[in-house]
Amino acid sequence: MSIDSKNIESSLQETRKFAPPADFAANANISSEAQYQAMWQKAKDDPAGFWGELASENLRWSKRWDSVMDQSMPETRWFNGGKINACDNCVDRHAESWRRNKAAIIWEGEPGDTRVLTYQDLHRETSKFANVLKRLGVRSGDRVTLYMPLIPELAIAMLACARLGATHSIIFGGFSSDAVADRNNDAQAKVVVTADAGWRRGKEVLLKQAVDESLAKSPTVEKVVVVRRAGIPVHMATDRDYWWHDLMSDVSSDCECEPVDAEHPLFILYTSGSTGKPKGVLHTTGGYLLGTMMSSRWVFDLKEEDTYWCTADIGWITGHSYVVYGPLANGSTVVMYEGAPNWPHEGRFWEIIEKYRVSIFYTAPTAIRAFIKWGDHWPAKYDLSSLRLLGSVGEPINPEAWMWYHKVIGAERCPIVDTWWQTETGAIMVSPLPGITATKPGSCTQPLPGVVPDIVDQQGNSLPANQGGLLVMRQSWPSMLRTLYGDHDRFKETYFSTIPGCYFAGDGARRDEDGYIWVMGRVDDVLNVAGHRLSTMEVESALVAHPQVAEAAVVGFPHDIKGEGICCFVTTKSGEGNESLERDLIQHVRKHIGALATPDKIKFAAALPKTRSGKIMRRLLRDIAAGRESAGDTTTLEDYSVLAKLRENDEG
Ligand code: WTA
Repeated sequence: MSIDSKNIESSLQETRKFAPPADFAANANISSEAQYQAMWQKAKDDPAGFWGELASENLRWSKRWDSVMDQSMPETRWFNGGKINACDNCVDRHAESWRRNKAAIIWEGEPGDTRVLTYQDLHRETSKFANVLKRLGVRSGDRVTLYMPLIPELAIAMLACARLGATHSIIFGGFSSDAVADRNNDAQAKVVVTADAGWRRGKEVLLKQAVDESLAKSPTVEKVVVVRRAGIPVHMATDRDYWWHDLMSDVSSDCECEPVDAEHPLFILYTSGSTGKPKGVLHTTGGYLLGTMMSSRWVFDLKEEDTYWCTADIGWITGHSYVVYGPLANGSTVVMYEGAPNWPHEGRFWEIIEKYRVSIFYTAPTAIRAFIKWGDHWPAKYDLSSLRLLGSVGEPINPEAWMWYHKVIGAERCPIVDTWWQTETGAIMVSPLPGITATKPGSCTQPLPGVVPDIVDQQGNSLPANQGGLLVMRQSWPSMLRTLYGDHDRFKETYFSTIPGCYFAGDGARRDEDGYIWVMGRVDDVLNVAGHRLSTMEVESALVAHPQVAEAAVVGFPHDIKGEGICCFVTTKSGEGNESLERDLIQHVRKHIGALATPDKIKFAAALPKTRSGKIMRRLLRDIAAGRESAGDTTTLEDYSVLAKLRENDEG
């Protein structure tokens, strides 16, 4: 993989430090530095002892494992020989306890409808839907695609898959029918669960229609289950499509959890890598569950009486790990909201916090920047005094956004946990522990117990303080991805070949003089747009599939709200471009990937700047997209006039 040092050099000077409030520290799940140090050291020196104890104490196993961890990376196995079921741990054991009438999910739809599911309700619904899936022919090991709005049925369907040992593959509702077809094919999905439509800013997102289009191109899918959410008319194919409520009306609510191997695939989640083809990140059961459960408790300081809200869509890893598996394994009360933060008004999130007395709130910097733009009068209208902890995830949080979050939302009272992790890591890796870590705005601070990070140069040598390098993990952790579905070679190549013996995250970072980690962003060709990962190659492949496009290069540029925007440089076959083609290309990319990949800028160019060996010089394009002078070396540029032309066009 080629690594570009575009982000490694940036050096942020931030010296403010915020100690945890004393009353928070006194009651925190991890409450002293000494406790953290002892845990971290034990997890490093004796990972089997550390994780084995936690697994016995915190999870319900049908059969104990033979060994806690078997091999070093990349062929890691955790709790080998153990038998467990994720749904049993997230639902049944709570439904059997005093928690049976505790709210598991407090859900609010965008139009304002609400539902509360207790652990007992969740137990009944997941059992019934597991029986529905069985009736449709789903067996342990089969793949089921979930392409749904953020409604309780999505959590129910995930847990029902887990109940049977079927592997779910959730596709975020913002992806297009082409993206659904690609993912169905890659996973060889047997059943798709969807809805007629979801709600987004008062408009219907036509999910069933997209599924219909995708099925023409994904032949492995035999059955489709449709939740009636929006109540709009949809096409229902005979003997293929069934309404959720019809199927649920006459199934039994008895369905045993199927004990599966600890290493049994729990889910596949597609994410963007540095090539055009999305990667099917595969997570297994025992280690993933333990990792998400313990990190939820340590980082969010989850207590029995908390009302916890993570605003992520379940279609992303944050939703998998911190809306569903982590908090439910802990028996927590989780708030879910279906829609947009600015619908019907820009105070919707604060209204929800006030209404349900949310105590823990976990969101993304891109949302925080939008809140800042919408104005302080929105949060000021609501009572946010129930909040005690704030979290951030998905991209580096800029210090201004951090300070705003701290002052305006947290009233300078709530610790902020800036959590660094990835689809691949399954669980939070680097984050403050809210009772002990003095936070610095913009730094995700320190590794959790069990996480052994390093910052290295391209030869794998550890770098001293304040020198930017590659972020790697030196030791395996329980919730690590196990493979890329159907492509184990790509798995090894992507994560373990850059720095032999280490997991390479794809991010650049530095450690400061206090040992705090500052993540600076991706060093590969992955964009982070509004906290969502997109590969530049993915957008380029979509563009060159258009009949009028000859060549395309896509780069990110700094964007006030989204963090990174998408800028496309396009050479057309005719050599010309105009506004109507621009609109057409934007639609074309949306159709191929989805609305989340909508280009912010299309720049037509007669030619793209290339090296003599024909490689597109993205660094120069990034400078142009950002409106910067190119500081770096241009001596390998093949044709200087190309660059001058691009800048001229830009000014015009
Ligand atoms: C970035 C999201 C800085 C990083 C959970 C990573 C972050 C990618 C942070 C993973 C953070 C995530 N500070 N950067 N707190 N959290 N990132 O797979 O570049 O959607 O590699 O997982 O997001 O994105 P993914």
